[in-house]
Amino acid sequence: MRTTLLASAAALALGTAASAQVVGFSQIGSESGWRAAETTVTQQEAEARGLQLQFSDAQQKQENQIAAVRSFIAQGVDAILLAPVVATGWDAVLEEAAEAEIPVVLLDRMVDSDPSLYLTAVGSDLVHEGEVAGEWLAGQVGDQPCRVVELQGTTGSSPAIDRAQGFRDGIEGHANIEIVQSQTGDFTRAQGKTVMEAFLQAENGGADICALYAHNDDMAVGAIQAIKEAGLKPGEDILVVSIDAVPDIFQAMAAGEANATVELTPNMAGPAFDALQAYWDAGTEPPKFIQTESRLYTQADDPQAEYDRRKGLGY
Ligand code: AHR
Repeated sequence: MRTTLLASAAALALGTAASAQVVGFSQIGSESGWRAAETTVTQQEAEARGLQLQFSDAQQKQENQIAAVRSFIAQGVDAILLAPVVATGWDAVLEEAAEAEIPVVLLDRMVDSDPSLYLTAVGSDLVHEGEVAGEWLAGQVGDQPCRVVELQGTTGSSPAIDRAQGFRDGIEGHANIEIVQSQTGDFTRAQGKTVMEAFLQAENGGADICALYAHNDDMAVGAIQAIKEAGLKPGEDILVVSIDAVPDIFQAMAAGEANATVELTPNMAGPAFDALQAYWDAGTEPPKFIQTESRLYTQADDPQAEYDRRKGLGY
């Protein structure tokens, strides 16, 4: 203890701080406004705690993420944050991190590996998010027939799998609601628009569509553009419900062009760093899943105020 105190005092006298913990962050990419906000918030949370963050953008490719994690292991970082683009194929690299005794924390998406291979996962209940969206739609349409088109997230990713399941759970027992088209838009605005154009064409120019369910807001925003270009009113002719609660969807809601969104907080890093600090300090094992809150916003929730509140937050 005396040696440590003396070392700290010497470091201060020399004007240097004790070396910061180094955390490698393998991020998926920047496919959505939500993803950009998660990156910004992670950098801010690391800076606020005096952690040194090594950032790697995988450009949506799992092989890039695996290479980044291997490079973090080779550098001997103190921890790794991993936002896994898809759910499968992580066993080998997670085993390598475990062998090197580097704790791995999963952010916002899950993997199908054995939980012993990571310290904890921070994320929302992705099935619940889809269920909330489905229940909202069921409440809106009552017993009217409703043909739904679905824009799915990245194929093989845990949010695409779970949000699809959750929505189906939410509309269960409502035989009047039918999912008539379902395709991936890869969580991007551009693909959301392109796939919605195909849906509109296949569904009588959109006249046969009652509602759009998009696995994220960015795809919904792209689809809203396609609906407008087809001469229809999004939010009225076609109901729009999606997930994330990014500023742009609140702007669309304020304009009456979107109806509801389920919030996903971009601050996954705060709880992740808290868990890591306790682990570094005292070896405290966190629970295997640290759940963040999800809540529904509709046009009744003052979307303009929500937009103003969020627009400077890094989305
Ligand atoms: O994993 C979370 C999802 O990934 C967000 O809902 C989406 O916007 C992002 O691309």
